[in-house]
Amino acid sequence: MDWAGKNCNWMRTNSVEKAVTFYEIGPADELPAGERWFLEVEDVPIVVFNINGDYYAMDDVCSHDNGPVGEGELDGTQIVCPRHGARFDVTNGKSLTPPAVENIHAYPIRITDGQLEIGIPDEQ
Ligand code: FES
Repeated sequence: MDWAGKNCNWMRTNSVEKAVTFYEIGPADELPAGERWFLEVEDVPIVVFNINGDYYAMDDVCSHDNGPVGEGELDGTQIVCPRHGARFDVTNGKSLTPPAVENIHAYPIRITDGQLEIGIPDEQ
C-alpha cells in the first residue's frame, strides 16, 4: 500500500487511553517488516514503521530544519535524517545526534482486529 502524499480516511474508534484518540490507518498485514507508510493528519506528515514486527510512528518532520526524516535510512530502531544526518530513536522520537537537538513527536500504535491504529493527542 502506498500512502505517500495522500490523506487517510480517518475512522474514529473507541479510545481506551486518556489524552489520545486512536484512528484506524490500515491492515497491519499490509505493512510488512522493513516497510513504512506516510500519512497526513491535519496537515502534519507522519511516518509509520514496521521494524521486525514492531510498529512505531513519529512526525515526518525533522526537528533540525524540517527535513523529511521519515525518508531516511534505518539503522535498527534509529533513523538518519537524509538532509544533515541527525539520528533519532524511532521508538520514542528522541534526538540522538546533532545537528538536531530537539525530539520529534512519537505516537502510540496498537493493533485492533488486525487493523493498525495510531493514537493522536486530543489536543495537538
Ligand atoms: S533537517 Fe534533519 S538533520 Fe537537518
